[in-house]
Amino acid sequence: MGGSPYTDFARPPLDVRALRRALLVPDGLWTRLDVHRETASTNTDVAAAARAGVPEGLVVVAERQTAGRGRLDRRWASPARAGITASVLLRPDPVPPSRYGWLPLLGGLALVESVRRITELDAALKWPNDLLVGDRKCGGILAEAVPGENAVVLGIGLNVTLRADELPYPEVTSLALAGARYADRDPLLRALLRSLAAWYLRWREAGGDPAGSGVRSAYLDECATLGTDVRVSLPDGTTLAGRATTVDSDGRLVVTPATGEDRAVAAGDVRHVRR
Ligand code: BTN
Repeated sequence: MGGSPYTDFARPPLDVRALRRALLVPDGLWTRLDVHRETASTNTDVAAAARAGVPEGLVVVAERQTAGRGRLDRRWASPARAGITASVLLRPDPVPPSRYGWLPLLGGLALVESVRRITELDAALKWPNDLLVGDRKCGGILAEAVPGENAVVLGIGLNVTLRADELPYPEVTSLALAGARYADRDPLLRALLRSLAAWYLRWREAGGDPAGSGVRSAYLDECATLGTDVRVSLPDGTTLAGRATTVDSDGRLVVTPATGEDRAVAAGDVRHVRR
């Protein structure tokens, strides 16, 4: 339908005032919620805010992104109001930066929990943080450190009401196409930000310890990659094949090849071959 947010009844705009009322609470993590009708990338907006000294807790949501970015230099594209595209500003002081690798996994954990709760879909995670329904991707997280700022931007993309002819790749899906009982963006965004705040505060309180905070064991429970035969395309262009056995204390995926020693992978594109 046309450009007005009020003409597509299947895709109403977010209720900004209600979201602010629900999320900007005293002593809560979230301090400011901006909703843009259109922006290039909410991750870029939040990184700029971090450089300008904005405190932790900023949330920027876009009804449409014109240059959305995904992991591994991919694009993230979605029609206006058909999904959730949001980024948050975290300043995890005093957690040591060596533990920041858990932030994207913690974001994935919040994403899968909230989607399951609101939609009643059988959702799971593919390492590190792709949201899967069945074997199709429905959402993901892009975590970016802001150099010199001790800040991390967590960007979340979730396909909510995309139709089949709107999917950017055939391997992906949306909550609506996957048969979600409820696919309203307002409760989804509320649940997502509440779950993210709860896990983040627990993790930060525990000094970023993935075991002490319970983040690692909760993540392991949600990660469909574990116990699966995988092929991992690594950043150096090589491929690693084997059984994914666990996620280590640094958040790396441990792969046991048919021959040779276990390898711990910090970044890569995982394909599930067989469970
Ligand atoms: C992935 O590749 O799986 C991660 C996708 C992350 C997309 C989100 S949408 C909101 C935020 N802004 C961006 O430009 N990217 C992230």
